[in-house]
Amino acid sequence: MITLNPEGIYDYAVSKAEPRDSLLDELMEQTQAKMEHWNMLCGPIEGRFLKLMVQISQAKNILEIGTFTGHSALSMAEALPDDGRLTTLDLDPEVTTFAKSYFARSKHGHKIKSILGPALESLKSLPGPFDMALIDADKGNYQNYYEAVLPKIKSGGIIVIDNVLWHGAVLSPKSAEDRAIATLNDIIAKDERVDRVLLTIRDGVFLVRKR
Ligand SMILES: C[S@@+](CC[C@H](N)C(=O)[O-])C[C@H]1O[C@@H](n2cnc3c(N)ncnc32)[C@H](O)[C@@H]1O
Repeated sequence: MITLNPEGIYDYAVSKAEPRDSLLDELMEQTQAKMEHWNMLCGPIEGRFLKLMVQISQAKNILEIGTFTGHSALSMAEALPDDGRLTTLDLDPEVTTFAKSYFARSKHGHKIKSILGPALESLKSLPGPFDMALIDADKGNYQNYYEAVLPKIKSGGIIVIDNVLWHGAVLSPKSAEDRAIATLNDIIAKDERVDRVLLTIRDGVFLVRKR
């Protein structure tokens, strides 16, 4: 087994990632300056990973659950064709207003549609099919999101689920959130509807492909 986590390795990896639009850097800086829970944004490596997943899957219609300040949405929208669409859901008006101000300034912003409200409600009016989805909102609902999203994904489409290692808490779950994530991981690990791999990127990313 290889454990690759020496001091400085994260910054090294960031330095080797594809350069980013300066608007994304500003969005990150302003999120850190203005938002109490700024560390919810997915960060530079995962942002580039998401963009690459859109390119590899050639997704044209993406669903995101959990907009926050728009970092992951803008990262994915960058790789969408001009007529592509990303629908992003969040229930917090403050972060949604912040995210929309950056969508408005981005040359990719016109591809993004933001819906304010509880995601499980918003999902009812979104039939899909989607080529790709990112699940990255309240952890207690992760299983609900997975089961609601999977039927809306086309065959061969992908779902990316963030924070599935939950700072390591999945190894001995204690809180309701720990248990919700660990339960979903157990379900996906045996789910024959999908091909899947749990990647140790950042806080853990489950990459799932619908069969
Ligand atoms: C981890 S953040 C999303 C981070 C974002 N994907 C990024 O990388 O920048 C989670 C978001 O989920 C939102 N959220 C929490 N519960 C929700 C719910 N029931 N419905 C919709 N959004 C919710 C929060 O307001 C928060 O903005």
